[in-house]
Order: sequence, then C-alpha cells, then structure tokens
Amino acid sequence: MKKFAIAVDGPAGSGKSSVAKAVAKELEIIYVDTGAMYRGVAYFCIQKGIDPSDEVSVLALLEEINLEIQPQKGGQRILLDGEDITSKIRTQEIGQGASDVGKIQSVRQKLGDMQRDMAKRSSVIMDGRDIGTFVLPQAEVKIYMDAGVDERARRRMEELEAKGEKPNFETIRQEIIQRDENDMNRVHSPLCKAEDAVYLDTTFMSIEEVVNKILEICKDKISEV
Ligand code: DC
Repeated sequence: MKKFAIAVDGPAGSGKSSVAKAVAKELEIIYVDTGAMYRGVAYFCIQKGIDPSDEVSVLALLEEINLEIQPQKGGQRILLDGEDITSKIRTQEIGQGASDVGKIQSVRQKLGDMQRDMAKRSSVIMDGRDIGTFVLPQAEVKIYMDAGVDERARRRMEELEAKGEKPNFETIRQEIIQRDENDMNRVHSPLCKAEDAVYLDTTFMSIEEVVNKILEICKDKISEV
C-alpha cells in the first residue's frame, strides 16, 4: 500500500494529540508526537543544569543527546539514553522549556530530520507546530487545529486535574498565551497555518466530532483510506 502522511498543527491545548491518536488507531498508522521530542531535549537540558533558552549551552549539548521514539499502539514512548521519559516530560516547566529549545535552528534541524525519517518508513499522522509547513510540506492531508484560549486553558486544567494536580485557571491561561506568543513569533519555522491546510476551530467540537471530520477529509484526499 502506498505510504501517506497527515500533518496536524496548532497551538498548545488545541486537542491535537488526543485527536491524532484516535485517527492513527482508526487508520492503523503510526502516531508521532513531535512536541514530545522538543520536550525530550528540554528535559535533557534541565537535567544537565542548562537553561533551555541559553542557545550556546543547548547547542553544546545537542551532539550528546540520544533520543529514541518508539511508536506504540495508542501512542508513543520516548526514551532518553534508553530510559523511558514519556510521562516525566508532561509538566508545564518542560512545556515552556520545549518552546524555548524550539527557537534554536539546529535543534529544529536535528528533530526535523528524525521526523522526516519516520515518515519515510511508514504512513504517519504527525502533530506539532511546523509539520505541514516545514517538516512534511508534501503531506497528503494537512490540518490546522485551533480553539479559543479559554477553552484550551480549560482542557489543560482538566488534564492536570486528572493527574491529581490542583492548577490555577488564570496561571494556566497566561502560560498558554505566553507559549503561543513564543511559538508563533520565533524566527525559524514559527507556528502558522500552511496555505493548503484545512482550518478546524474545535472550540465547540468534541474529540469524536473532530476525529470524524479528519477521517472524512482523509477519505476525500487519500485513495488508500
Ligand atoms: O505540543 P507540545 O505542547 O508538547 O509542544 C511543546 C513545545 O515544543 C511547543 O510549545 C513548541 C515546541 N514544538 C515545536 O517547536 N515544534 C513542533 N513541531 C512541536 C513542538
């Protein structure tokens, strides 16, 4: 069967990963969460006592980093030097650090090459900030998922509460605004909608509705689906 790629981009908390995982399951293809790779780099820096926004020090570490992405049924695992760090990288601090290392061109080059390599080997649905624009500009389907900032903060709150945390709504909301600002205004491959991406405002849509909408788009655009 011919390989194909689905690129899903959008700001923090727009629901990309829940939706992309469900679409991957439905189409029996691999899900790649590229945010986890930027988070992995930030985690490595913090572990080594390096500030993720200190470009010179991050660059000096980049050769040493040994990240591995293992696609799994219903998600992916990320390993750093063989250690499973999948759940350790899901904190606000690492999210912000990921946004900081994402400004550095060599980091983007290294992770972008790994991402393109995965898409060469199998059909993928890949989510991130620059997939439709820079990483896989030839993707058969491109989606740009968005949602109002209050709704995105509400979803993040729910996620954190489910983990037993007691987040403050306004703090979460401000962190999201800050991260959007960072990701949309950086010099190298900033977050933006690819010209040929389908824009989906998911503010008032359930995960199931978004998944069905994407599956419909895929049926239209990919003969194998
Ligand atoms: O999707 P996420 O929240 O796990 O991503 C964390 C940060 O990583 C995000 O704020 C910016 C950066 N990132 C990026 O620059 N490019 C990508 N393709 C994915 C994530």
